[in-house]
Amino acid sequence: MTSPYIVAVGGTLRPNSSTEWAMRHVLTSVQRAGARTNLISGSLLQLPLYQPENLERGDGARFLVAELARADGIIIGSPGYHGSISGLVKNALDYAEDLRTDARPYFSGRAVGCIATAGGWPGAVNTLSALRDIVHALRGWPTPLGAAINSAESVFDDEGICLVPRVGQILDLMADEVMGFARLAGPRR
Ligand SMILES: Cc1cc2nc3c(=O)[nH]c(=O)nc-3n(C[C@H](O)[C@H](O)[C@H](O)COP(=O)(O)O)c2cc1C
Repeated sequence: MTSPYIVAVGGTLRPNSSTEWAMRHVLTSVQRAGARTNLISGSLLQLPLYQPENLERGDGARFLVAELARADGIIIGSPGYHGSISGLVKNALDYAEDLRTDARPYFSGRAVGCIATAGGWPGAVNTLSALRDIVHALRGWPTPLGAAINSAESVFDDEGICLVPRVGQILDLMADEVMGFARLAGPRR
């Protein structure tokens, strides 16, 4: 098959976002395994609040939806904000509603690796669980391994190098799972 196309969506608007570093780590790992990738993060997520009854879409929203439609595998990364995923990431995911009539509705047929960062384990674990529920609602296949990262533990340096080997291993395993599923599912039908 042609090399799988893996799209990551999420992060925060903060410079040195640990969530974005974690997604970049997974993308680097899938690239090593032969994938083409794209990261939609930071200001690319500053989209108008999703309104189902308003069919106008700006360039940013159209790009996000087109990339999700095209993806053979998806990575989603969110910080834990007050016990769940952030509004920024949830709003971006709400745009997946525009894929309801796609040939592959929503995230159907795609593995989705979920990454949650938070300033403590309870927040990270709850946020990961919320992300996985959202992926189920969008008919995606959450990878068996999700990543809950406690960002209070200085997990990435200022260049995004992962400082905690165990976290790097989990992100690499998630990359393997997304790639394995993409290869099993075959190229986009
Ligand atoms: C508005 C806000 C709410 C937060 N709520 C929680 C929380 O409920 N539980 C928690 O463990 N951390 C919480 N945090 C900490 C973030 O989850 C944590 O710093 C995360 O790693 C930020 O992601 P980033 O490094 O990608 O910017 C919160 C941070 C902010 C700014």
